[in-house]
Formats: sequence, C-alpha cells, structure tokens
Amino acid sequence: MPSIEALDAEAEAILRGNDRGGYTVPTDGLYPYQWNWDSMFAAWGFAAFDIERAWDEIDSLFSGQWPNGMVPHILFHRPDPSYFPGPDVWGTDGMGPIASSGISQPPVAASFAKKVFDQNPKVGRARLPALLPKMKAWHRWFLEARAHDGAICITHPWESGRDNAPDWDGAMAAIDPEGVGSYERRDLTHVDAAMRPTKADYDRYIWLVQRGRRLGWDESALAENRPFMVADPTMTFTLLRSNRDLAELADMLGEDRSEIDAWTQALEHGAATLWNESLGSYDSRDAVSGEWSGAISNASFLCWWAGIDKPAMLQQLDRICTAAPFAVASYDPGGPKFDAKRYWRGPVWGMINSLIGIGLEDCGHIDAANRLCETTRGLIEKSGFAEYFDPIDGSPAGGSRFTWTAAIWLGWASPNARRI
Ligand code: GLC
Repeated sequence: MPSIEALDAEAEAILRGNDRGGYTVPTDGLYPYQWNWDSMFAAWGFAAFDIERAWDEIDSLFSGQWPNGMVPHILFHRPDPSYFPGPDVWGTDGMGPIASSGISQPPVAASFAKKVFDQNPKVGRARLPALLPKMKAWHRWFLEARAHDGAICITHPWESGRDNAPDWDGAMAAIDPEGVGSYERRDLTHVDAAMRPTKADYDRYIWLVQRGRRLGWDESALAENRPFMVADPTMTFTLLRSNRDLAELADMLGEDRSEIDAWTQALEHGAATLWNESLGSYDSRDAVSGEWSGAISNASFLCWWAGIDKPAMLQQLDRICTAAPFAVASYDPGGPKFDAKRYWRGPVWGMINSLIGIGLEDCGHIDAANRLCETTRGLIEKSGFAEYFDPIDGSPAGGSRFTWTAAIWLGWASPNARRI
C-alpha cells in the first residue's frame, strides 16, 4: 500500500496533470472538457497547495455562464473529437460566451468558494467580489427555471450528475426516443461497457438533447409539456447548502442577504417534500407523473450536507454501510436494481462521500463522519484515485487518475487534509 505522503503527492500531481490552463478536466481521455461540479471539487483540492489557482478554477467555470444565469454542465473550451456528444450535437451556438452544453449540474460552487475563502480569507476578499453576483444569478436561475414546490428538478439525467441512477428509470421509460437516429458513443472506447449506462439510456439522453436543440434551449419553450422532469435530492440538497454558504459569503462582504435567505426558506420547504414516508428515506419524485422513484441513493444522504438532521437517515446509512462495506453505495444494496459495477446504480463515489461526511460532522454525528472518512481513505489507499469503486469488494471502476477523487483526498480524506 502506498504511504500517505506518496498519496498526497500523487493527488497533487493528478490535479496538475489534469490542469488544461485555468480549468481542470475530470480525467484525461474519457472527459476532455470542463465539467461543472467536478471543477468545483478541483478548486477545493487546489486550495490545499495553490490558492490563486483554486480561485482561477471557479472563475473559469463562471466564464461560461449564460445571460439567463445558467452555468452549463460542460464547457467545451477546445474541440476534442474523443467525446460524444460534443458542441455540434448540443447546438448551443451563441447562447453563452463559450461553447457549452445546454443544461446545468448540481450547484456546489458557492459551498466550495466558501471553503476556498476560509483557507485564505485575505486572498478570498480580493477574489470573491467579482464572483458573488454570478453565483447569485445562478441560484436565482435554479429557483426560477427548475423549482417545483421548492424542490429542484432535473430536466435531463445528466443534470443531476448521477447519470444512470435508478431514480430516473420511471421517467426515462415514459420517453419514446423515436427518431433519435444513429450516433457513435465514445465512452465505450475508454471504459468497459458493463460499467457504463446502457444503449436504452443513451438513446433517451440524446433524444432529450435533440429536443433542447430543436427548441433553441429556450427555458419557457422547454417547460411546455416537458417529457422529463424529476425532483432530485442531489440538486435540492446541494443548492440548499450552497445557498446557506452564499448567504455567509454575502455577509463577509457586507452585502444584503435577504433575497438569498428567502430562497433558503423555499428550498427548506422543497427538501421536506422529498421525504418518502413509505420508503423511510429522502427520495426523488417524477414531477410529471407525481410518482416516487422508491430509490435510496447516496444523494438521499446529502440531507446533512444541506443542514437537515433526520434520525431515520442514520439508520438507513448504518444498514447500507453494513450491506456494502465500502460505503456509501450509490444505490441501496438491498434494492432490486443494485449493480455493483454500473456507475450510479451501486458503485461508491468518493466525492459524494466527502459531502455526506462533512454534513454528518456539521450535524454533530462525529463517529459516523469519522467512519465514513476512514472508509473513503481506505478505498483510495487500496484502489487509487479511481472515478468510482465497487462497494462490495472496493475494486476501482471507471476512469483512473480522477480529479475529484484526488481533490477530496487533499481536502478531506488524507490524514494531512486541513479540513476547511
Ligand atoms: C459523469 C458523472 C458526472 C460527472 C461527469 C464528469 O457524467 O455522472 O457526475 O460530472 O461524468 O466526471
């Protein structure tokens, strides 16, 4: 097993190696562009050794913000034919300042901006003022374009960052991907097909992109007869936490926080609507059909990250960590759709673990927080900086030398992490 010092050095080398000059790719090859939430984890990782570079990462993400406030889930800074679907498929020309996708991703930027700020408040005071209104505009966009009774919805599975989670199965099955045409996936040239979404999923992913393109990515046109809209714990809990962090950042700059506080109230209400009593867990809900997904996922456990302490979730966490010891499985190991290798249908994602762990700690569940941190550390010691891991045997899966896995090591999982 490599030493902690060797892993610290390797994590730093991964971030530097995935740096493309002001922005970081998730990993070389499989994901050659800047991804929204990956990039904010990267900022947290950079903060451990290069504070200005950490702020540059956040700036570069917001350099792609659309005039309506949306911050795209991918920024295509430089063309790269090894990725599908690229800018030619999204058809967002002229929508934003740089080529991008037409959907967003979980808003963790304000939360990590706060961590980067806390690492070095002096630099933070110089860098934050330009970013604050941009983050605020993004949050406003979520409340205006994605809220359903206060819960934040996704309009494409990719928007959640949990692409093929069982949460979306019902809503995806209701889509007939007629006319999607033929296309060539590139992900399968990098990673084993058993670890990736299926063709049925991909047809629907692309069909939804084609619909967005046809409607010119106009939010009001897209909102009519939406074929896919699911209220999502990932979005709702991350926005709630980011919004609380944004309010604190506004305080630090002496700015008015009343509008942000009103959003927090709406989001607290929205989060409560995601409690599925019969499942005994936070769950996602199809906003079109009104049906629950019935899925206990790792996003269900982001409640603590959002500042919501729900005792029943501690019991669920215990049960899931016992069933699949390399916790936290992305989907209930006792559930009918569990698949230990397939992406968001079972594997463990270290970056979600870091959010759950910090949330547990913030809510005073110190033992549970420490256990999760040690489990994650053990996984990385055993299997390296993989994209995700098998929750039963801890083996690595997906891409390697992954930015966010390196970042959470530096920010949280390494015994040398400063834990800001
Ligand atoms: C996959 C993940 C998503 C991530 C992206 C880049 O699409 O599901 O969460 O942002 O890869 O790593």
